[in-house]
Amino acid sequence: METRLKLAIQKSGRLHDDSLNLLKDCGIDLKNGINKLKTEADNFPLEVFFLRDDDIPQYVEDSVADIGIVGENVIYEKNKKVTVSEKLGFGKCRLSVAVGRNEPYSGCQFLANKKIATTYPVLVAKYLKEQKVDAEIHEISGSVEIAPGIGLADAIVDLVSSGSTLFMNGLKEVETIMHSEAVLIRQSKLGLAQQQILEKLLFRIRSVRKARHTKYILLNAPNGKLQEIISLLPGMKSPTVLPLAEPGWSSVHSVVNENDFWEIIEKLKEAGEQGILVVPIEKMIL
Ligand code: PRP
Ligand code: ZN
Repeated sequence: METRLKLAIQKSGRLHDDSLNLLKDCGIDLKNGINKLKTEADNFPLEVFFLRDDDIPQYVEDSVADIGIVGENVIYEKNKKVTVSEKLGFGKCRLSVAVGRNEPYSGCQFLANKKIATTYPVLVAKYLKEQKVDAEIHEISGSVEIAPGIGLADAIVDLVSSGSTLFMNGLKEVETIMHSEAVLIRQSKLGLAQQQILEKLLFRIRSVRKARHTKYILLNAPNGKLQEIISLLPGMKSPTVLPLAEPGWSSVHSVVNENDFWEIIEKLKEAGEQGILVVPIEKMIL
């Protein structure tokens, strides 16, 4: 039987859609049946399990899955024997303390002798110890945000992304304990065949991620201005310059990083450029 790499992703929640999109952008097509417990890829030796994100580190440590996509926060909380292979750049959020909107919060001493509801007791205990605050941690398995409203706790510690969950439940964010994003984890004893598949997958993931941060730009310039324009464009090696049909003019092509993008465009505009075309890049193989 053909060797397959077993990947665990979140069944539903913040990381689910982005995890599936990443596989799609890597050119991996999953068989229908996303609602099932597992599925497999048609065109890549990959089997995908849909699980609760909190359980994924355990499954990977036990080799039920070879690799998994989870938030960093879950790895620190669960403290399992797994290795982080790659940061994935999505699912960015923070683990924060929140209290009722009208509470007179003035610092973490507010939490002294109070009840804090959370699904992250390990990280909360560590934080309280660092802050030298003595409070009661109340571990619950979900819907943490309703705990203050029903009198179960005075404060909560939970993940915050857009902040809308807190807002809708009348809570305000008062401290950030850690920042988190999605990462790819692997088990420690991967077989050789599985390791080779993982290398292929990581190669695709890195190409997709590089492309997501990069844009292809094209513009036309009079030859007299080429040197100035080329000095503004980094490009992968150096920009491509092609002659236009109209004498004295050239087309300049280059690749720019998202972080520098607007700054470069502004400088090009100052240099008198107008017809600038910007195109997304699908994959980038370096
Ligand atoms: C987290 C958290 C909140 C929500 C916050 O849930 O528990 O419910 O995201 O996001 P917001 O600030 O954008 O409203 P998660 O997706 O991790 O699911 P889980 O709690 O079921 O694991
Ligand atoms: Zn979760």
